Amino acid sequence: MYISGAKNAAVAIIPAALLVDGPCRIENVPDISDVKLLEDIIKHLGAEIRFEDKNTIVINSHKLQSYKASYERVKCMRASYYLIGALLGRFGKAEVPFPGGCDFGFRPIDQHIKGFEALGAKVKIEHGIVYAYADELVGNQIYLDVVSVGATINLMLAAVKAKGITIIENAAKEPHVVDTANFLNAMGANIKGAGTDVIKIRGVDTLKGGATYSIIPDQIEAGTYMLAAAATRGDVTVRNVIPKHMESLTAKLTEMNVKVIENGDWIRVIGVDRLSKVNIKTLPYPGFPTDLQPQASVLLCQAEGTSTITEGVWDSRFQYIDELKRMGAHIRVEGRIAVIEGPTRLTGAPINATDLRAGAALVIAGLTAKGTTEVHNINYIDRGYENFEEKLRALGADIKRVEDRLSGPANCK
Ligand code: EPU
Repeated sequence: MYISGAKNAAVAIIPAALLVDGPCRIENVPDISDVKLLEDIIKHLGAEIRFEDKNTIVINSHKLQSYKASYERVKCMRASYYLIGALLGRFGKAEVPFPGGCDFGFRPIDQHIKGFEALGAKVKIEHGIVYAYADELVGNQIYLDVVSVGATINLMLAAVKAKGITIIENAAKEPHVVDTANFLNAMGANIKGAGTDVIKIRGVDTLKGGATYSIIPDQIEAGTYMLAAAATRGDVTVRNVIPKHMESLTAKLTEMNVKVIENGDWIRVIGVDRLSKVNIKTLPYPGFPTDLQPQASVLLCQAEGTSTITEGVWDSRFQYIDELKRMGAHIRVEGRIAVIEGPTRLTGAPINATDLRAGAALVIAGLTAKGTTEVHNINYIDRGYENFEEKLRALGADIKRVEDRLSGPANCK
């Protein structure tokens, strides 16, 4: 099964295109609702977008006029924070509503703000809007107190055209950080060290378009199908992947006795009946990704004995566990640790997606369960997975999308 382009790279690279004077042709853009929303946001700021096909877009920002994003469009998206760095880098000013997105407890942006200020911007938050203004952005040395994907990328966006050299220390190393840097470099930026914990950016006067860039495969989408294969005792080959990005997951699956074969740009996962218990801790890359934590919990329900998952990134990312318990899972949460007893054959039930990755996990739970499972609020899943149920159906899953009369109100679509 073919893996789409990475959501978390696309939602950074599309705002990055606002810094470029001229057309950027971007391939392998995932066809998901977060990306559509972002395309709509930048169109309203004055960027021109042309679709060559559903996964290829050409963005031309030469006529960009506005540095103000509207609340209506931004409220649903965490990644809307990248508009602050991109507009600040482009105009020296940005007005962007405080970002929304999945609820994992408090999601501060203090490290983004600290970095913008170090580059010479004045930043204030009033009435839910982040105002950032700079007469001139000047490179500086910025040490991030926490390893933050968003702050690392946002500071690259703000610094890429700043005067002089910016050094980001304790930077995030995720594949989408590297992908965003590669995109900017393809357009004429001078960024070195992305993928290590020190990134050095030498400011350039202009970024010129004209280049084509292809987004990397989605590490989390690939991991979701790999975990689904192991949980359903299936045999699935994910194609268009970078196996190196999957190492932390491959190691855990192997530890559980799942057979994993990799070669070039594909990985085959062959499920086994008896899964060994395992302990997982989520960490920034190259650690085990927090965005695979809910899907891994479902697999651990099938393992023999007591497994644990420790959430090392977010304060609160276990809301979906109550839904799994409604399906019969034996899990207890103690702070940031989930203790999972298995093996348990789950039973189908109506359940509620509480966020994007939890939604995907609950679908996997439904595929392993006895009887029928109804997953509600699937617009969360549409935010980050291209053709989710079609891809699962192509692998043999018995799944269909139906009209949802029970969806909660006011979900971000
Ligand atoms: N943090 C701070 N201050 C900041 C920024 C972050 O304290 O200024 C803390 C956060 O509270 C968290 C940790 O640092 O505890 C890591 O947060 P990070 O900034 O790395 O997260 P993010 O940029 O908001 C991105 C992904 C998330 C993914 C995290 C961690 C995007 C759009 N989102 O969020 O993806 O969980 O990195 O890898 O790239 C998802 O795709 O489902 C998703 C939630």
